[in-house]
Amino acid sequence: QTDIKTHIIGQTVRYYKTTTSTNEVAKDLARQGITEGAIIITEEQSKGRGRLGRTWQCPPRTGLCFSVVLFPRANPMEVPQFTMLAAVAVVKALYRTLGLRAQVKWPNDVYIEGLKICGILAEMAAEADRVKYVVLGIGLNVNQSKEDLVCFGNTATSLRVQLGRTLLRSQILKVLLEELDNLYTLWQQEGFLPLKGLWRDNALWIGNKVQVSGLNSNYQGTMEGIDDGGALLLRLYDGTIKTFYSGEVSLRPA
Ligand code: ATP
Ligand code: BTN
Repeated sequence: QTDIKTHIIGQTVRYYKTTTSTNEVAKDLARQGITEGAIIITEEQSKGRGRLGRTWQCPPRTGLCFSVVLFPRANPMEVPQFTMLAAVAVVKALYRTLGLRAQVKWPNDVYIEGLKICGILAEMAAEADRVKYVVLGIGLNVNQSKEDLVCFGNTATSLRVQLGRTLLRSQILKVLLEELDNLYTLWQQEGFLPLKGLWRDNALWIGNKVQVSGLNSNYQGTMEGIDDGGALLLRLYDGTIKTFYSGEVSLRPA
């Protein structure tokens, strides 16, 4: 960890052999004012969480499970942008370390060959229209075997399954922290616009027929892309464009 080339992300590291959820620990530490960019990393979570109350499962020591604490000058509406920033960082890190072509899936996943390899969970606290902290939780499947993934049906993969060999997690982590650091600095300096371009360049299903479903809604159309804030743009069959925010809906092929 001493040779990591970052300015903010990963300068402070809290390592736990086992914990409930790194996002929970990170939120506590954020409230206590830990330094910006601190990462909370673990070998095993008993209550790993995904979006919408779903669970994140990862056998001990097989994946990368960590959370980053950020104190951005941001509006609560901008927080989904950090999810997308992290997804782009994962794609870049997998390409740089392993030459793998991964893709971002709106709003919070990374896929390889149509299978989920990484999930991202951003959580925040805000006061009026000012963000107090953002916790960015990343779960990347690294050394899970095919058997470890059968519980997800035919929806998930790992780097080991893709490449046919086990990998050194620390090496991927180092590069991923560097990419997160670069992109967070870019966000601080130039906002979301350059990230929007990077996201779009690596996105799944743009121009394809997709379905967007929420608790009580279901829309089909063509995925146009995302707007300047990161919301999903769907072209309905009557030609109108409908905007979706990440909190409430899921995206899949139609
Ligand atoms: P969407 O994000 O579009 O709503 P999703 O199915 O990816 O759909 P998420 O909430 O993003 O839902 O992710 C949580 C889901 O991820 C869980 O319901 C589970 O099916 C799946 N999941 C849990 N752990 C893993 C893992 N290690 N690898 C791949 N998938 C996992
Ligand atoms: C999703 O796919 O919905 C998001 C999954 C996020 C998983 C990571 S693992 C580290 C961090 N701690 C958690 O409890 N969740 C995130």
